[in-house]
Amino acid sequence: MGKALDGVRILDFTHVQSGPTCTQLLAWFGADVIKVERAGAGDITREQLRDIPDVDSLYFTMLNHNKRSVTIDTKNPEGKQVLEALIHQCDVLVENFAPGALDRMGFTWERIQELNPRMIVASVKGFGPGPYEDCKVYENVAQCAGGAASTTGFDDGPPVVTGAQIGDSGTGLHLALGIVTALYQRTQTGRGQRVLAAMQDGVLNLCRVKLRDQQRLERTGEMKEYPQYPNGQFGEAVPRAGNASGGGQPGWILKCKGWETDPNAYIYFITQAPVWTKICNVIGKEEWATDPDYATPAARLPRLKEIFAEIERWTMTKSKFEAMQILNKYDIPCGPILSMKEIAEEPSLRKTGTIVEVDHPKRGKYLTVGNPIKLSDSPTEVKRSPLLGEHTDEVMAELGYSPEQISALRTAGAI
Ligand code: COA
Repeated sequence: MGKALDGVRILDFTHVQSGPTCTQLLAWFGADVIKVERAGAGDITREQLRDIPDVDSLYFTMLNHNKRSVTIDTKNPEGKQVLEALIHQCDVLVENFAPGALDRMGFTWERIQELNPRMIVASVKGFGPGPYEDCKVYENVAQCAGGAASTTGFDDGPPVVTGAQIGDSGTGLHLALGIVTALYQRTQTGRGQRVLAAMQDGVLNLCRVKLRDQQRLERTGEMKEYPQYPNGQFGEAVPRAGNASGGGQPGWILKCKGWETDPNAYIYFITQAPVWTKICNVIGKEEWATDPDYATPAARLPRLKEIFAEIERWTMTKSKFEAMQILNKYDIPCGPILSMKEIAEEPSLRKTGTIVEVDHPKRGKYLTVGNPIKLSDSPTEVKRSPLLGEHTDEVMAELGYSPEQISALRTAGAI
């Protein structure tokens, strides 16, 4: 079966996490992704957080599936010529260098357009235009500058970053959408364009409900679904909401059987209004269904602490999976706190290709996260990440270089 992006060639100048996430997705959708790396070193993540000496790290392998790797020294004049040949041949150049690095290499937007007016140039940067546009940025900087950290954690503690890589992988996703949109527009205009996804913007986009809450707070002075209500204090900015549910249906994380020894024996429990009577029956508080102090969502808001404490008395008598099974019977929304170990071993995730086992010539078998976006006419096959420069000769031959020319360029240190 063909793939959605068959025929699209990506010149992949990305490194670390944000850019590679984007190009990996495009590769999974069928694009030919040619990753350009520096000979001898390559993407810095190849050697970061290694678990096996001298073998590409899981950090690298899990972000660079289905790509080809070529080594080119883009600061070498002959290397630049190879890169120019690639720019002629490719549809999209994706990069996440520090601001200005591509220009310093001599590949300004104007120069790229001269070489290939159809080329789309897509960039991840830490910040958009403004006071911080020249800054280098990593994941947690973006989480802090995009509003996530100030709104994550508990009221009496410091800001907290989340394990979900919303700054890097989140921005990579945003960039991928920008690229396919630009490719679509190109079918009408025939022209390339620049696509920018700034990490601060990506994180803020994912935190948009907190900007909603900022304006609610400014208008009303309180937010009744936050744990600060009714006894705590609201300040000028959206506070950290602990584990409170982001929407209009109050929720909290509750202990389950075994919590004393298992750090993940917890369940997320949502007191959704339409199933309130069922919740009361399950936890043995039938009288709450009709008691005016508990019967309506508005009456419950100032009593959420007490209500969750009562529900927890019930959840603590069940394992998180037993609780989930019982609650699901009554359509009560809830979710077990799954550890990475449990996720890695979950058969249903293996079946859907969300967790995939991949074989690598140097490291052997390892697990990765497959394509979370499933297309019925463009199934994803996860292929191992390339070794450094594994496809240099192959790609150079496709560009029309003879074996002698390739060997001369290698001797000159250009590839
Ligand atoms: N041949 C020759 N030189 C190459 C090369 C190649 N194939 N590939 C990269 N380089 C050079 C670049 O030209 C640049 O040189 P310069 O600084 O002299 O212009 C240099 O290598 C590396 O660039 P840089 O991006 O500054 O790397 P860094 O390791 O110092 O910074 C980041 C890393 C992530 C902080 C930075 O790239 C960044 O802020 N990126 C944008 C935001 C981002 O994506 N952050 C998240 C990363 S997960």
